[in-house]
Amino acid sequence: MARNRTMLWLSTGITLALYWLQRQRPAAGNNGPASQRSRSIIQHASDAIISTDEEQRILHANPAAAAMFDTTVQAMEGALLQDYLPRDQRQYHDNTAGRYFGNTGIRLRMKGRRAGDYLVTGQRSHGQLFPLEGSISALNEGEHSIYTIILRDITERKQVQEQLEQSYAQLRELSAALQTIREEERKYIARELHDDLGQLLATLRVDLALLKRTQQYGPAARKLLTGMDTLLMSAITSLRRIASNLRPRALDEGGLYYALESLCHDFVNRYGIACQLQANEEELIMDDAYTTAIFRIAQEALTNISRHAEASKVLLSVQRQQHELQIEIQDDGRGIAEQDMDKAMAFGLLGMRERVRALHGEIAILSDGGTRISIRLPLPSQAPATAD
Ligand SMILES: Nc1ncnc2c1ncn2[C@@H]1O[C@H](COP(=O)(O)OP(=O)(O)O)[C@@H](O)[C@H]1O
Ligand SMILES: [Mg+2]
Repeated sequence: MARNRTMLWLSTGITLALYWLQRQRPAAGNNGPASQRSRSIIQHASDAIISTDEEQRILHANPAAAAMFDTTVQAMEGALLQDYLPRDQRQYHDNTAGRYFGNTGIRLRMKGRRAGDYLVTGQRSHGQLFPLEGSISALNEGEHSIYTIILRDITERKQVQEQLEQSYAQLRELSAALQTIREEERKYIARELHDDLGQLLATLRVDLALLKRTQQYGPAARKLLTGMDTLLMSAITSLRRIASNLRPRALDEGGLYYALESLCHDFVNRYGIACQLQANEEELIMDDAYTTAIFRIAQEALTNISRHAEASKVLLSVQRQQHELQIEIQDDGRGIAEQDMDKAMAFGLLGMRERVRALHGEIAILSDGGTRISIRLPLPSQAPATAD
């Protein structure tokens, strides 16, 4: 919508400006009501409209142009465009889109503009620089060309853009910090469950076994004791399962390879979908930030496969290549649709992306005879090296 409006603005501006120029031609003799109306529109336009000759000399400027550059129409007319659009401040973000302005080297883009782009920096009469966007059109008059430039001051838009970018960056940092806190809490609760409650239950079981060995209980009491033992055993199993779901011990004790192996193993047992892990144990010795991120990404990918993919097999591969890790998670299911990747209230893929981004990696999610998640993570030089 905004782009359409801008395009409309530009094309209307150019049409009016061309009228304006025609009015200036001595031969035109065009002083009818239509011409007067367009002249008046240009005079009152809120965008700067400037025309120049091929040597960049300003032929005409409207009051909005004068106000934008903090000067007067009289001062602008006859001056060089260079005084207002200094050459050394011109910014070119790419070489493809753009229009060259005669032989002056100024380019202003008509299409594909993003909110943050601007190609020209203006200079107000007292020296202050400011960002501009606009368009140029050429009108041939015999051997010569006259250029019409329409400019819009985008200082405010740029500021808003910068604020937005800053707030996105803050949100990302917040999300990364929350992930870390969450992981730490999970780790803490899992350890407490295992070491504290787990130990108590184990001691109770030992005491119960001692009780059962004494002869003073009748058959009814013995039955009760056996029932208690069974209950205790299932409490210990539940506790281990809950603790492991919170944070697998393998992540902190055995390392990433074993954590991924047991993830695959549980996945096969639970969903009956084959899961093959391709990795080298020694290559996966890394610091906690990497270990946790990779484990959580693989966990989310496998959960997604069980919920959405209708797959029969999964390949999970984690390979180290010098200073980077290549992670592939490929299933043979129905594939992922483009629109599924940006579903509202679906945070699994988003979480994966954020984890990868936080580690300065790249992630691609493709529908490729199933779904393939392909991740490259650069490894910091201080990360423990492989045993090579
Ligand atoms: N392996 C997959 N195969 C097919 N579709 C998938 C796969 N993984 C994710 N999707 C699709 O992408 C969507 C977004 O996934 P996700 O962000 O994890 O959210 P959620 O799992 O909560 O729906 C899913 O709803 C699903 O439609
Ligand atoms: Mg999910």
